Amino acid sequence: MSRLQLGVNIDHVATLREVRYRDLRHLPNAEPDVLQACREAETGGADQITIHLRQDRRHIQDADVRRLRDALDTRINLEMGLTEEIIAIALEVRPYSVCLVPEHRQEVTTEGGLDVAGQESLVTATTRRCQAVGIKVSLFIDPDARQIAAAARTGAEMVELHTGSFANAHGPARAQEIEKLVAGAHAAHAAGLVVNAGHGITTRNLGELFAVPHLHELNIGHHLVCRALSIGLTAAVAEMRDLMNRYPSAPEPHEVA
Ligand code: PXP
Repeated sequence: MSRLQLGVNIDHVATLREVRYRDLRHLPNAEPDVLQACREAETGGADQITIHLRQDRRHIQDADVRRLRDALDTRINLEMGLTEEIIAIALEVRPYSVCLVPEHRQEVTTEGGLDVAGQESLVTATTRRCQAVGIKVSLFIDPDARQIAAAARTGAEMVELHTGSFANAHGPARAQEIEKLVAGAHAAHAAGLVVNAGHGITTRNLGELFAVPHLHELNIGHHLVCRALSIGLTAAVAEMRDLMNRYPSAPEPHEVA
C-alpha cells in the first residue's frame, strides 16, 4: 500500500513575486523565492511539486520551470493548456508528469475540467507526444462518465478529478458532488486509469473526500499557501500530509512508478 500522494501547487508563491517584481525578477532582492518554497514543501512532506505554466505567464515563468527541474529531487507535475508553445516547452523540459488542463485567459483559476470528449484527437496526440519522451500524462476532468471514457481512450495514465464543484457546494448539493466523485473514481479505476483529485481541497473538507475510493494523489495549492501565512509553508504542508495519512484505502497505482 502506498500512501496517498501530496502534490503541492506553488503557483501562488510565484504570483506574489510577480505582483511586485514582474519586471525585476533578476534582482537578488526579488521575493518570495519559488525554489525556497518548494524546499519548504519538500520538508513538510510533499511528494510532488505542481506548477502551471500559463500562456499569459501570470505566475510561473519559463525560467522557474527549468530552475525547479534542475534543482529539485521531488518530481514535478506541470499543468498546461493544449497550446503548441507550452507543449513544446514540456517536451523539452520533461517533467515527471504533465496534467492537461483547460485554460482561458480571463479566468481567475482553472475553471471546469478539460473537455476531452470534445477534442479527443488533439488530447490523444498530445498524450502520445508526451509519453514518447517519457512524460506521464494526467487529464484534469470533471467526474463525468463521458469524459472518463474519453480519457481512457486517449491512452493517458491518469485522470485528476476536479473537486472544485464539491469544494464550493453547500447544503444538499455537497452530498451530490461527493456522489459524482465516488462514481467517477470507480469508473476511472475500472477503465484502468490512476485516479488523482484536486482543486479547492482544504484541511476542513479533506475528510469528506475520504469517501472517494482509489485516490492516488491530491494536488493542493491555494489552501496551503493561505495557511502558510499563519504557520509557514513547511508546517502547512506537514499538517495536510498528516491528515492525508488517514485516507483509508490508498491503493497500489496501476502503473505509476
Ligand atoms: N489541480 C489543478 C489541475 C489545478 O489547476 C489547480 C489550481 O491551479 C489545483 C489542482 C490546485 O487547486 P487549489 O489551488 O484550489 O488547491
